[in-house]
Amino acid sequence: MTVSVGIDKIGFYTPSLYLDMAELATARGEDPNKYLIGIGQSKQAVIPPTQDIVTMAANAASQILTPALKAEVAMVLFGTESGIDNSKASAVYLAHLLGLSPKTRAIEVKQACYGATAGLQLAADYVRVHPQAKVLVIGADVARYGLRTAGEVTQGGGAVAMLVTADPQILTLDMVSSYHTEDVMDFWRPTYRTEALVDGKYSTNVYLDFFKTVWADYQQQTNRTIVDFDAFVFHLPFTKMGRKGLRQILPEAQPDQQKSLKAAFEASQEDNRNVGNLYTGSLYLSLLSLLRHGQLTAGARLGFFSYGSGAEGEFFSGILQPNYQRGFDGAALTTLLAQRKRVSVAEYEDIYRAQLSNDSRDVQLPVGEEVAQYYLAGRQNQQRQ
Ligand code: HMG
Repeated sequence: MTVSVGIDKIGFYTPSLYLDMAELATARGEDPNKYLIGIGQSKQAVIPPTQDIVTMAANAASQILTPALKAEVAMVLFGTESGIDNSKASAVYLAHLLGLSPKTRAIEVKQACYGATAGLQLAADYVRVHPQAKVLVIGADVARYGLRTAGEVTQGGGAVAMLVTADPQILTLDMVSSYHTEDVMDFWRPTYRTEALVDGKYSTNVYLDFFKTVWADYQQQTNRTIVDFDAFVFHLPFTKMGRKGLRQILPEAQPDQQKSLKAAFEASQEDNRNVGNLYTGSLYLSLLSLLRHGQLTAGARLGFFSYGSGAEGEFFSGILQPNYQRGFDGAALTTLLAQRKRVSVAEYEDIYRAQLSNDSRDVQLPVGEEVAQYYLAGRQNQQRQ
């Protein structure tokens, strides 16, 4: 008998500070509409030095793990490209912070923004073989390009935590998917750098090419076409990128379906538009946004395009489950986003420069009003506190 496997719960965390994109545009001498419409971002999460991928992941995962569930997590797969250690996995720090059982496998998965999708697919395969197991999959990153760069408007950060189980509440995942890998230099971050290097325009073209490739291959493998889908969810480095992806396939749909796919896309980009790029977590924040703001009913087929620069793309699909609303706390997310504090461009630049230095000095970080349940207090004896 085939076990149905997929996403049972989703938690999300982003820090309590944001930057207004119209203000950033003005400060950078750009027309605000370039950022608001041309790029499609309204607000950007500002990551204080007191949050890193581990603390953000803990803040996201603690929302979905009851004490009983913590004892049942068999594995933590932590997708990130903002690693804090070249050796020790962020998943090990996370498992400790969350108080998971020592009988847990905990590893980090890296392939740019694709890491969480790799984690999700590996988790699903694991649960198909071990139906009692629960796997915690994380996508957590700080998207950082540099002050006054073209990529600056596409920064952001946060963490998505997903629990993958048998008989999931939110979404069952199909076993068929299409993936494509090529060695491409569109975006990368050598180990000596804290900011990514990017060939911006080229990266957007590679994203669209990879989408074309995996969508064609998926249709060939499954005999499904656009008619079989109720919504498409995209990796959203900025919301215009997903809009371009959708436009690429919309002509395959009839006018009525085009309308409903466009409406679903609007729902799926709403939260990302106010947070920015999360790298590994972006696709899954977009799923959460679709679930929160969309008009979907149980049984809907959702298509997902995951893209990680460097580059790897995957198209896969899943079926929305009857109790999907029970798998996430939409009201908590509304409150989290509504209670964020707006910082000025000057404050954002100070925070940007105040990140934990890349050296061995002891540091005690000032804990301000942005503090969350889990936070980074500093570094002592070359160990994060
Ligand atoms: P840019 O050169 O500043 O922007 O960089 P532009 O000149 O191309 O303008 C952007 C859009 O705004 C254009 O629309 C303009 O027409 C429009 P488009 O032609 O694209 O439809 N525009 C306006 N619209 C309305 N009113 C106006 C106005 N002015 C202009 N007044 C770029 C943009 C995205 C290249 C840059 O921000 C960048 O390099 N970002 C980082 C790279 C990136 O996000 N790439 C995405 C694909 S790769 C990916 O998704 C992977 C990634 O997440 C990393 C990973 O995998 O780890 C990045």
